[in-house]
Amino acid sequence: MDFQLTEQQRMIRDAARDFAQKELAPHAAEWDRNETFPAEAVKKLGELGFMGMNVPEQYGGAGLDMVCYVLAMEEISAACASTGVIMSVNNSLVCWPLETYGTEEQKQKFLAPLARGEKLGAYCLSEPDAGTDAANQQTRAKRDGDEWVLNGMKNFITNGANADTLIVFAQTDPELRHKGILAFIVETDREGFEVIGKEKKLGIRASDTAQLALDNVRIPADQQLGPDGAGFKVAMSTLDGGRIGIASQALGIAKAALESSIEYAKQREQFGRPIAKFQAIQWKIADMATRYEAARLLTLRAANLKDQGVRYSEESAMAKLFASEASNWIANEAVQVFGGNGYSKEFPVERNFRDARITSIYEGTSEAQRMVISGHRLR
Ligand code: CAA
Repeated sequence: MDFQLTEQQRMIRDAARDFAQKELAPHAAEWDRNETFPAEAVKKLGELGFMGMNVPEQYGGAGLDMVCYVLAMEEISAACASTGVIMSVNNSLVCWPLETYGTEEQKQKFLAPLARGEKLGAYCLSEPDAGTDAANQQTRAKRDGDEWVLNGMKNFITNGANADTLIVFAQTDPELRHKGILAFIVETDREGFEVIGKEKKLGIRASDTAQLALDNVRIPADQQLGPDGAGFKVAMSTLDGGRIGIASQALGIAKAALESSIEYAKQREQFGRPIAKFQAIQWKIADMATRYEAARLLTLRAANLKDQGVRYSEESAMAKLFASEASNWIANEAVQVFGGNGYSKEFPVERNFRDARITSIYEGTSEAQRMVISGHRLR
């Protein structure tokens, strides 16, 4: 494995960092405070090619590799983790399944505008009774002539209140369990679709997390995504890539917390010298940096495997598990380095601490990642 980034990967990382520091960092605290969806910034991300990074150019994407995506996600999330998840969902959870399982017509019609950032996507798997047990889908899909009719409720849907295009999972025959699940492409301007609520959250407050209702939503039969009986595999294989995105978001939050801790420790004086001169702080910085680097290697390894076209389910689960737990740990230590200031909204580590928390919950809890990893090791 080559640990050096290519010139293109460095260029993409630098472009993302430049954008993040100029367009996101100055506003992130205010967006967080007011729960403001960063619509303008998301539009600009689309214009720069960051909303469909791995999609081939013929379908409106930037045609870049997964390592570029990890590097960009990290930089964006270091400045604003809310913008990070908006970008991650569009790239990994919506563009990827459309590119992988979509027909040529579906790619032209739905993927291209999403990859160009002209439209925004959301991934609708979670339901009130289908969290970790994702196969327990209660949303129903019934065939009626040339149409599918969808009925049900989805919750905790990132981008749900702002999306144009949804990937919706629904059950056609409960007796078939996961083999009865199908995936569908649903436009949010269809009759019967409604945003019924938005979560009030601890972190990533500038991204919306919505509860959605589908009440006799009719879509043409050709908006089924993937073959019959394959919806659960579409969902799970999509999450394999999504988890690399969330690992990268966690890395970004950790990086921000670590860098600001280093800067603060060098400036903040107690007992007549900078606190960085005390071993208590030096050891914290050393442990934070080591966990961050280990998380980064796991994440880049998973991305590298995806680029090579080999199965990476276990490696992406490991990356997500370790990076999200490391991010929580690092952000917690950062608050400690800042002391009382770390508990205040005046300093960004307070937001890093809150934003890190979700990374070990969504796109599969740490416990779900352990189920995936142990499933591979014990088979
Ligand atoms: N790729 C392809 N197929 C896969 C797969 C993968 N990664 N993982 C499982 N499958 C297949 C299996 O091979 C099996 O197929 P066969 O029956 O043909 O052999 C089938 O799927 C069922 O597999 P399991 O028996 O392992 O499934 P399970 O019901 O026991 O579930 C689980 C396993 C790991 C708990 C899974 O349900 C899971 O990952 N749960 C967490 C759900 C999750 O991550 N939700 C996040 C919601 S999205 C979100 O948060 C988005 C957001 O807005 C940010």
